[in-house]
Amino acid sequence: MKDTIMFCGKGGVGKTTCAAATALHYAAEGKETLIISTDLTPSLRDIFELDNAANKEKPARITKGLYLNEIGSEEVKELWDNKFGAEVYEVFSSFVDIGYEVFIDFVASMLPGIRDEFMVDYIRELSESGRYEQIVWDTAPAGQTLGLLRMPSIVNAHLKPAPRIYATLKTTGRGRHSIQRVIKGWEELSSKDIDFLKNEVEFNLVTIAEALAVRQLDGIFSEFHSHGLNIDHIIINQVVTEPDSSFLQSKASMQQSYISEIVTRYRQNQRILPLFPYEIKGIAKLKEVERMLFSNDYSSRPYPP
Ligand SMILES: Nc1ncnc2c1ncn2[C@@H]1O[C@H](COP(=O)(O)OP(=O)(O)O)[C@@H](O)[C@H]1O
Ligand SMILES: [Mg+2]
Repeated sequence: MKDTIMFCGKGGVGKTTCAAATALHYAAEGKETLIISTDLTPSLRDIFELDNAANKEKPARITKGLYLNEIGSEEVKELWDNKFGAEVYEVFSSFVDIGYEVFIDFVASMLPGIRDEFMVDYIRELSESGRYEQIVWDTAPAGQTLGLLRMPSIVNAHLKPAPRIYATLKTTGRGRHSIQRVIKGWEELSSKDIDFLKNEVEFNLVTIAEALAVRQLDGIFSEFHSHGLNIDHIIINQVVTEPDSSFLQSKASMQQSYISEIVTRYRQNQRILPLFPYEIKGIAKLKEVERMLFSNDYSSRPYPP
């Protein structure tokens, strides 16, 4: 089993809910578990009802064996700055006369993709450190996250002609040497991140049984495939399973047709998560979700066409 489990999908379909319930599951099994978010407007603290004032630790402890880390936009900038900033500055300052702070702000605004790559790299390092036995990765809505997954390949492709381009810059011998060293380092890092995504991450796609969400699935699948990544599971969330009114019956039959469509089109393992009649907040409610997500009663294809 892969030690990093990622949840992706359109906004509002239930990524954070599924990620939180999954993290609780592994922590309850006795695994040291980290739930981490790359959504720059994160909601994990809210869903776990963590008291922000009381729990400022990073990562914050939620319950026994379960830790939470949200990477906010300021923090990403800082982390990126610490890891790559000085190096990138060294390269650019060999042919551009610019102050460090100005430079970092400029790069952060011009190349948000570099920060995305950093987030992948950050999770890869966490995984490799062995600090946690299970990492559950909650993400931003699909569009943004696909950009993030694409990043290591883009950086890698971008770097191919880089040595030739930088070699023509009028830098001193020493400057040129350091540029080549830094580029080599980035190349290696991109390759590691690509391999990490391909080999170490399980991808779960969360969706709902509605036209727009189902129509977006194909696009998400082909994006993944174009980066050599596979989606392992599809979770169809917010499904009406006990329609006890004509209103709900009508909603259930609408959902039914989209569920059949997903069942016939995709060969991935599929799982239904029922619509709850209340908001899912706090550990007790998340435990309910966990029970349904991991119980065989709700395993794939509960709706024979
Ligand atoms: N199965 C469900 N039943 C009822 N409400 C749900 C269910 N799944 C998610 N929700 C609610 O839908 C909203 C969006 O869920 P969330 O997990 O934050 O989505 P995402 O992370 O994909 O944006 C939340 O208020 C959540 O409580
Ligand atoms: Mg979310």
